[in-house]
Amino acid sequence: MSVDSKALPADLAKEIEVYKNQFWVPTETLNKIIEYFISELDRGNADGTDPTGIPMNAAWVLDYPDGSETGDYLAIDLGGTNLRVVLVHLLGNHKFTTEQSKYHIPTKMRTTQHREELFGFIAECLEDFLKQQHPEGIPTGKLFPLGFTFSYPASQNSITEGVLQRWTKGFDIPNVEGHDVVPLLMEQVEKKGLPIKIDALINDTSGTLVASRYTDELTEMGCIFGTGVNGAYYDRIKNIPKLQGKLEADIAPDSPMLINCEYGSFDNAHKVLPRTKFDIQIDNESPRPGQQAFEKMTSGYYLGELIRLIMLETYEKGLIFKSYTKSCEQIKNLQTPYFLDTSFLSIIEADDTADLSVTSNEFSSKLFIDTTFEERLFARKLSQFIGTRAARLSICGISAVCKKMDHKVAHIAADGSVFLKYPYFPERAAQGLSDVFGWEGIDMKDHPIQIKHAEDGSGVGAAIIAALSHARKEKGLSLGVKL
Ligand code: BGC
Repeated sequence: MSVDSKALPADLAKEIEVYKNQFWVPTETLNKIIEYFISELDRGNADGTDPTGIPMNAAWVLDYPDGSETGDYLAIDLGGTNLRVVLVHLLGNHKFTTEQSKYHIPTKMRTTQHREELFGFIAECLEDFLKQQHPEGIPTGKLFPLGFTFSYPASQNSITEGVLQRWTKGFDIPNVEGHDVVPLLMEQVEKKGLPIKIDALINDTSGTLVASRYTDELTEMGCIFGTGVNGAYYDRIKNIPKLQGKLEADIAPDSPMLINCEYGSFDNAHKVLPRTKFDIQIDNESPRPGQQAFEKMTSGYYLGELIRLIMLETYEKGLIFKSYTKSCEQIKNLQTPYFLDTSFLSIIEADDTADLSVTSNEFSSKLFIDTTFEERLFARKLSQFIGTRAARLSICGISAVCKKMDHKVAHIAADGSVFLKYPYFPERAAQGLSDVFGWEGIDMKDHPIQIKHAEDGSGVGAAIIAALSHARKEKGLSLGVKL
């Protein structure tokens, strides 16, 4: 008998049924969400400044890569948790190699009061990386071209700038919103005397799309399912009303334009997403209430918080962890916002032991709580509901873009910790797509639209976009709005 078919005691069984219904998203609801999503994509392309909508940021990547791009580029990727510095060797012929280092972003830095600390930290990491690459001393004779992957919503009038619209993923540093982050970084780079110039500022989804397209021309979207969520795709200039009249003549109506949707903010007006009271609480208590509605229900930053809130509620009803009083350290931990992260759910879902002993260890090592089998089974079911809902909702962005662009066959390049590490996420997302597009009975590997893991999207993509921009510049073609 598999552990999942074991029964919970009556009181917990009753509770779990309630959560199951709250978290299950039927296909009908998915379809309704997707329909509204499509109209929001169009609304963002027409304007994009309404904070309740999707920004649909033009990314000024005006060409498709064809795999022939070559050169050595530095790339940095400022994500939610880590900063990666990558040296990308584009070899042409759809091939590349990379060398990279990862630097943990200290938690405190996400909310530092001094923006110089963050940009100074990035410059320090760049210096460290260049020193590793050049133990004999950083060469000063040439400037290293750099692609900067800045994975936050930024509006761009050209590929070499990006004005932060708002912080996401728990970052909250004053005096950056409303500012172009390129000079903020360059100031710190110059302070250190590093021989670097920024050739392109990009989003991680744009990088993921372009890097995958370099090796696989069926790629139509780049998506991140990680600490944050988002997607990017190529549209045509003529479909983007907000750019009309702002472009040089070399950008024709049929030219491609990469759009960074920033659809983590989908449904900030709360019209269609089936929010539970826990989602509402997470939003209300976040540094940015009313923002990133879609992200707050689907991304890795919030999944641990969801299970914490539900377990706390169940504890308060007297149904679990009964031997722990409210004043216990264990319960204080359970009461601490963001005490649990997504890995807690991932580990529980991956536990294939008959008595859920891995889950038992997870509870005792993270929360110092000794659990009964029933409590562990309860937590496992909760993880399954939360993880399944995240995966099913996640495909709404993909479905909306594919329907809008009429992509019947496509590869969706995906990256991010949830996609890579959360058990069954890819399968559940594929099931969601199958439900929406009606592929019942077709094997997952034969689905017309497939989500595929993108190899090092944000590093390699930044390099390719820097190369594409460089090539446009050489040809005297424009890289931004008409000046
Ligand atoms: C950011 C996006 C990013 C996504 C995935 C979101 O919070 O707003 O720019 O692409 O996270 O990293």
